[in-house]
Amino acid sequence: MPSEKNGFAVKTRIPLFFVGATVLAFAALAACDVERRKSDAELGLNAQQAAGRQIYDTECGRCHEPYSARGKKGPGLKGIYQRKYLSLSGLPATDERVTDIVRSGRGEMPGFSQKLSAQDMQDLLAYLHTL
Ligand code: HEC
Repeated sequence: MPSEKNGFAVKTRIPLFFVGATVLAFAALAACDVERRKSDAELGLNAQQAAGRQIYDTECGRCHEPYSARGKKGPGLKGIYQRKYLSLSGLPATDERVTDIVRSGRGEMPGFSQKLSAQDMQDLLAYLHTL
């Protein structure tokens, strides 16, 4: 019976269209909010800075946004070395201070002295200077 078959197709196609449109609308919204991740080359990172970025993404990214001042668990680190003082603690934005904070931790932030070698630390600082 072809007419019954048609009726079924029309009835199911309309809701499916709406589901599809809703999914697309959400995808578009999400794309606006979350910027596409740039490659190391697009960011112009050299080998050491790229190594630092990997460490950052593994150890720091879950609590600190690298390319936004927006806070996560900790403050965003965009432009961390562009100002004279760190935004939250007001400590001088120097390699010495930042190294201390990363090694020993601060408040809710864990220390990384056991996890990061001296070389890791150098690579990480090199990357932080690009933010
Ligand atoms: C579990 C979450 C967490 C992780 C992981 C973490 N941090 Fe933090 N970080 C924080 C919090 C919370 C603070 C604020 C501490 C305070 O002053 O009370 C902070 C503070 C800082 C500050 C000082 C900011 C300011 O304005 O004073 C720096 C720099 C920093 N973190 C760098 C790093 C780096 C680099 C890493 C990776 C090696 C890292 N953090 C990993 C949570 C984290």
